[in-house]
Amino acid sequence: MALNSLDFDFLRRLVRDRSGIVLGEDKAYLLESRLAPVAREQGLASIDQLCQRLRSNAPANLLRDVIEAMTTNETLWFRDVHPFEVLGRRILPELMRARAAQKQLSIWCAASSTGQEPYSVAMTIREQLPQLSSWNLRFVATDLSTEVLDRARAGIYSQLEINRGLPPDKAQRWFRRVDANSWQISDELRKMVDYRQVNLLESWPFASERFDIVMMRNVLIYFDLETKRTIMGKVKRLLPPDGWFFLGGAETTMNIDDGFERVADERGGCYRLRSSATNRYPSGSYPAAVPAAPIRVT
Ligand SMILES: C[S@@+](CC[C@H](N)C(=O)[O-])C[C@H]1O[C@@H](n2cnc3c(N)ncnc32)[C@H](O)[C@@H]1O
Repeated sequence: MALNSLDFDFLRRLVRDRSGIVLGEDKAYLLESRLAPVAREQGLASIDQLCQRLRSNAPANLLRDVIEAMTTNETLWFRDVHPFEVLGRRILPELMRARAAQKQLSIWCAASSTGQEPYSVAMTIREQLPQLSSWNLRFVATDLSTEVLDRARAGIYSQLEINRGLPPDKAQRWFRRVDANSWQISDELRKMVDYRQVNLLESWPFASERFDIVMMRNVLIYFDLETKRTIMGKVKRLLPPDGWFFLGGAETTMNIDDGFERVADERGGCYRLRSSATNRYPSGSYPAAVPAAPIRVT
């Protein structure tokens, strides 16, 4: 299923416009290998035919399948270790002291893929901050891809996935065996996380909410500078003055948005707002977290 240069440009533009993902000149092989199965599922003989279908009033589900096929969903438990360590040791205890009167805390894990990241946060909370179970904790995890969200909601992982970063004591404590090759995370942790589809490029369904912690790790790396800047600007408006923003190990706010400063004494890729940063809410005046919507447990 070779790709001609017109189709290559068309597909690159489509993927960038719909997801923000920038595919370099050298990524023809990636488009071919990821889109060949989508074409086959549609009964189309070639990527050329897939492009024709996409150009002529493509059905929404075909567009969705093409965009989802181009996302990279690589993830693992407790990825990079430090972010979870600093959450448990410093950030959550500090926020709990600051929110002791309201007993409300909110976390958004954006681009959460198949759930390993939000569930790693959930394990950290239950193990290190058990007092939080009596709080109003709003914990939203989102991704562009409906396929990974379905997997995250189900919370079922293969042995291979379990082996990637999950310490044996946590596997023992939080998972039950489903069959010879798969494990399911406990209902207690699944119920903590409200999974929703959010495309970071589109409007976010959090109009009047704030999030004390926003994790957006290993996704901005796929976007161009302008898109990163726009998204960081929107994150700033969601954070209270003492909120926290997490990026992946290879990502930074430097030279993109100087409204954030890296917390230099922590190794977790965590950022806070500079006191001069644009912010909707002066200290102490931000709105209360909205009660969690019903959570779907499958
Ligand atoms: C490499 S994974 C990162 C998963 C996790 N945050 C981690 O660090 O392990 C990137 C995720 O970003 C999602 N993604 C890509 N473009 C997106 C967009 N425009 N909006 C929301 N999510 C997006 C992909 O579907 C994928 O699941």
